[in-house]
Amino acid sequence: MHGGSAPMQRCLTLTLAWHSRLLLRKKFASVRCHQSAAMSSLLINQPKYSWLKELGLSEDNLGVYNGSWGGSGEVVTSYCPANNEPIARVTQATLAEYEETVQKAREAWKVWADIPAPKRGEIVRQIGDALRKKIKVLGSLVSLEMGKIYVEGVGEVQEYVDVCDYAVGLSRMIGGPILPSERPGHALLEQWNPVGLVGIITAFNFPVAVYGWNNAIALTCGNVCLWKGAPTTPLTSVAVTKIVAEVLEQNNLPGAICSMTCGGADIGTAMAKDERVDLLSFTGSTHVGKLVAMMVQERFGRKLLELGGNNAIIVFEDADLNLVVPSAVFASVGTAGQRCTTTRRLMLHESVHDKVVERVAKAYKQVRIGDPWDPSTLYGPLHTIQAVEQYLAAIEQAKQQGGTVVCGGKVMDRPGNYVEPTIITGLPHDAPIVHTETFVPILYVLKFNTEEEAFAWNNEVKQGLSSSIFTKDLGRVFRWMGPKGSDCGIVNVNIPTSGAEIGGAFGGEKHTGGGRESGSDSWKQYMRRSTCTINYSKDLPLAQGIKFE
Ligand code: UN1
Repeated sequence: MHGGSAPMQRCLTLTLAWHSRLLLRKKFASVRCHQSAAMSSLLINQPKYSWLKELGLSEDNLGVYNGSWGGSGEVVTSYCPANNEPIARVTQATLAEYEETVQKAREAWKVWADIPAPKRGEIVRQIGDALRKKIKVLGSLVSLEMGKIYVEGVGEVQEYVDVCDYAVGLSRMIGGPILPSERPGHALLEQWNPVGLVGIITAFNFPVAVYGWNNAIALTCGNVCLWKGAPTTPLTSVAVTKIVAEVLEQNNLPGAICSMTCGGADIGTAMAKDERVDLLSFTGSTHVGKLVAMMVQERFGRKLLELGGNNAIIVFEDADLNLVVPSAVFASVGTAGQRCTTTRRLMLHESVHDKVVERVAKAYKQVRIGDPWDPSTLYGPLHTIQAVEQYLAAIEQAKQQGGTVVCGGKVMDRPGNYVEPTIITGLPHDAPIVHTETFVPILYVLKFNTEEEAFAWNNEVKQGLSSSIFTKDLGRVFRWMGPKGSDCGIVNVNIPTSGAEIGGAFGGEKHTGGGRESGSDSWKQYMRRSTCTINYSKDLPLAQGIKFE
């Protein structure tokens, strides 16, 4: 988000954005008329989409849950990115409803925190099982509402299921060390307690999985959750919350343990400023993440940030190109370039540059484009019309800065927010557009000469999320993982930048925000540590041998 900060650059960006908007106006003018006209013919009412009712969805859905369902705020219509047709409506939370929900969640915490961790794990196990039963239909909803392909929609529900399994095991393993005390008759130990209420703000691109990582771990640690999903994927938030709520209610637990307030910036700001939100987990852009982080810091609150990435794949001269080509295609074209882990920079050693560009471009042309819910489709639409505008503006800037479009570069002539997956070569490694995370399927190919240069380019961007090298050189692998190697949170070898497993800690450094979610010891972010010293003797020796007599 920091690229193009010079006034000239800003001016150019604005001009191009204006130009792109003109271009798009024609394509989407009919869409907008259509959108208002079609309010009466919501997709949910068509027999083809009747499966949405299996998720408890209807034409109008309540967007607040705190043990009971409510919502009397703004009504938002959710649109399908593949055709821009309205799916159904959700009534968001008012600030009064947010207030009521926070109170109920904190009341619910009093019950939840007293339940032993393994018993909390049992509830999380049931949530995982309930998700398993609905995995296909929930995956289909993700596909319909977010626009990602069906297998990826199912895949992210799978991540929630997997992290539930992980959290069940964790529920019998969370603990702190007993440390040697320097004083006789004293015990020195660590006790971990839940922080209390965890606010979870998630983005449109992983409308299930990112909530799942936070929810499963936070619950196991003894916290209650309050979720605000993206305003453009409210149906998924409602459907997931219905599944989770049913488990809580069947176990006679307060539903407010997993509360939800659908909403926009008003609810997000309220969460960020609210001292009763003990930890705020935010996933989204670096720009918004910074605003959120400042508000949380202002009150000395805790935050967990998962922000932007500008991830590189580096291909050395000894790389196995049969691994490189499918990796580059999956990581740059998958999810239509809308993962925070998407490969945005492909750095190729000069000896393999032309060959790899040719092979990747050929593979790009074979990517099957279509309706995201069609099982044979590999590539679907962008989530919003605004993203299409950003795509066009970025291509224009890349050309201005010396780039050549090798393939793609155009909006597709079909309904929905479809753009051609794009490869751009010839840009300097430090061109402003290369250093900008545009959340669209544009891959910048850079040519390098030495390992030192490639590692430096990997690290010179503001973001620090994911990174991969392709090599057979063992020394290089360890240099890559070492202090002068990749500065990212995710450091891969011979696999793509995207598609991390839930068992590791997920997150990144610098402008990516520094948070870690999901596996490893990420649970520590959801708990507060007490260092406890207990004197079980009849004397009072002081530490450091101090005599105070
Ligand atoms: C994100 O894009 O916000 O590693 C999360 C991956 C996924 C998660 C991406 N497991 O690509």
